[in-house]
Amino acid sequence: MEMIDLLRKVPLFSELNEEELASIAALASSIEICKKSTVVQEFEPGDSMYVILDGEVKVSTYSVDGREVVLALLGKGSFFGEMSLLDEEPRSANVTTMVDSKFANIRRRDLVPLLLEQPAISLKLLKEIASRLRKTSRVLERISSMDVSHRLYAYLVDHCQRFSQQDHDGWYTTVLPTHQLLADQLSTSRETISRAISQLKKDGILVQREGRGQMRIDVETLEGMLDDF
Ligand code: CMP
Repeated sequence: MEMIDLLRKVPLFSELNEEELASIAALASSIEICKKSTVVQEFEPGDSMYVILDGEVKVSTYSVDGREVVLALLGKGSFFGEMSLLDEEPRSANVTTMVDSKFANIRRRDLVPLLLEQPAISLKLLKEIASRLRKTSRVLERISSMDVSHRLYAYLVDHCQRFSQQDHDGWYTTVLPTHQLLADQLSTSRETISRAISQLKKDGILVQREGRGQMRIDVETLEGMLDDF
């Protein structure tokens, strides 16, 4: 597929007309990177941002005790690398591919004039940055005030409501990240997550479906447990 057709599907550029899309498509370079590769390295200088045309990435950093802390998982249509592009500081985190991925790479000198000319793009960029800040603040608040089980309940509620369909009975069917990835997002160990998930299964709140790694989750009960906390 042509770059312009791929960019047309990216929410950040949804307000642009064909001519404007064509001008970005001409400036963006297409990059394909195989899974488990570093795209952006924390502390390195950076003068471009990446739009995810296909695939999924993990945004992470390392705590002082060497543990990986996952700040976000971003998928098709999302973007990263905008922070160094905008503030000219070193990269704030590592970004690695979870699966084979394809990106549009846009340089500062090409994007900044576009942001000045197109307030709609600037506004969308700001909205997404605000939403990420909200999410990071919420996670920080949970890490400092909740035990691991409740952090997991809150994560599962968010995950289901954002990424899954609600079934007729009010439960949600979803695919969860691996236990290690959950642990790295919730600042705990894989073993602790595995124990908490087993408990939820025993309590009948989380039910493994046959095949494809899908889970059914009773989100309403989880919300009640969070309210009672
Ligand atoms: P940049 O600092 O250029 O490179 C790393 C990128 O990771 C950063 O831009 C953002 O795009 C992304 N990033 C950093 N921190 C977060 C966060 N808390 N939530 C989501 N994305 C982030």
